[in-house]
Amino acid sequence: MGNSSFDFGMIGLGTMGRNLLLNVADHGMAAIGFDKDSSKIKLLESSATPGTRVKGAGSLAEMIELLKPPRKIMMLVPAGPVVDAVINELLPLLEPGDIIIDGGNSHYTDTLNRIRFLQDKKIHFTGMGVSGGEHGARTGPSIMPGGDAEAWKQLKPILEAIAAKVNDEPCVAYMGKDAAGHYVKMVHNGIEYAIMQLISETYDILKRGVELNNDELHAVFKKWNEGEMKSFLLEITANIFLQKDDITGNRLADMILDKAGSKGTGKWTSQDAMNLPVAVPTIDMAVAMRDISSYKEERLAAAALFNPTIKIIRSDREKLTRQLHDALYFATVICYAQGLAMLHKASVELKMSIPLQDVVRIWRGGCIIRSSLLETFTAAFKKNNQLSNILLNKKIAGLVKKKQGALRKIIQQGSHAGIPVAGLMSALGYFDAYCSERMPTNLIQAQRDYFGAHTYQRVDREGSFHTDWDDNDLIK
Ligand code: 6PG
Repeated sequence: MGNSSFDFGMIGLGTMGRNLLLNVADHGMAAIGFDKDSSKIKLLESSATPGTRVKGAGSLAEMIELLKPPRKIMMLVPAGPVVDAVINELLPLLEPGDIIIDGGNSHYTDTLNRIRFLQDKKIHFTGMGVSGGEHGARTGPSIMPGGDAEAWKQLKPILEAIAAKVNDEPCVAYMGKDAAGHYVKMVHNGIEYAIMQLISETYDILKRGVELNNDELHAVFKKWNEGEMKSFLLEITANIFLQKDDITGNRLADMILDKAGSKGTGKWTSQDAMNLPVAVPTIDMAVAMRDISSYKEERLAAAALFNPTIKIIRSDREKLTRQLHDALYFATVICYAQGLAMLHKASVELKMSIPLQDVVRIWRGGCIIRSSLLETFTAAFKKNNQLSNILLNKKIAGLVKKKQGALRKIIQQGSHAGIPVAGLMSALGYFDAYCSERMPTNLIQAQRDYFGAHTYQRVDREGSFHTDWDDNDLIK
């Protein structure tokens, strides 16, 4: 115990783990890390800010020995079986009251199982979303811990110190019971997928439809990022168009193969939304578009067969760019609306008590989907923390109402030009359905009852009804 003087331990010293641990040390805490790869331990020590206390441990046992009880040990290792393997290695070394944090993108059901497994052993387990990439990890991420309230009490000062700050407020808060931390991070990533898809579609219209070059593309996205939808994703998009390729000297964006990868969090969001059920069609579409992108060979064969041509969009460039801005703004709000509505429903269904006003507040800084829009959403949830859909907030409704016309025009022009705008279309389709007093689903109910006697409800009286459609008098 005499030697136990370290405040925070990290297992897994890849870029994220190393940077997060260095961030802890930069805030005056003694930080210790372990990785099976000794070169990563050396890199941790050599990258520490002079004057800070950072140590690489030679073994897990050494790290545990040197941590102050109750020990706070975070894992940043690949999601899946590796997390369980690390937990099993840790268990014999820990004491009741110690805290394990899983900071990776684990599936929330795995987190739930781990919480239950460790509860019996009196070890606290916190599933925690961390967003912000490598840079954010070092300078201030958005942090989404959930689960054990006692662990949160212990971790709060450390996490508040290392989190991003907006108006001096740390971008970390307790996200709710059980696996709420990982659930909120999963939905964050679903929204991330959807917004990235929308940005890529506006890029496609500007590049193939309007034939802007990379400098012009940079200028458009840079200008948008200086306005009302300022965001991290727009900022990096603007920068991407200026990046030179070291190999050919061309712009790097043009040299990157059009096959998107994914690690699964977007797909999980869609899968879980269907289970709840709640509609997140723009997230679904973003996942689907990444999937289609990966079938490059088939796309080449189909292109040769159908020979699609892109029609150049000849409308006034200034006007089109303004419409595109408004269309992207509108559709981006829809992505947040879908994700937040999902969290609202999941919070109730899975009994997680997710504080939505804190979710949007901590997404204002540090994370990948940070945007000035989050300030507006924070105000909306402050007014009503049970808001089931942000589109029901009067101020937000006012903001998007003005812009829906632009989205309709962009979809018309994009599809006329032969440019796929499936993400934008899905956002508009969601909006149009969500705002419909009457949907055509009466016909679906009639069909279900016709072929399967599934019954239907009526518009004029309570109850459940079935019609013997075949025998019924048909009006001739
Ligand atoms: C973040 C990111 C981060 C990671 C995603 C990328 O919030 O910092 O979301 O978690 O970049 O896992 O996911 P895909 O590889 O699935 O695009």
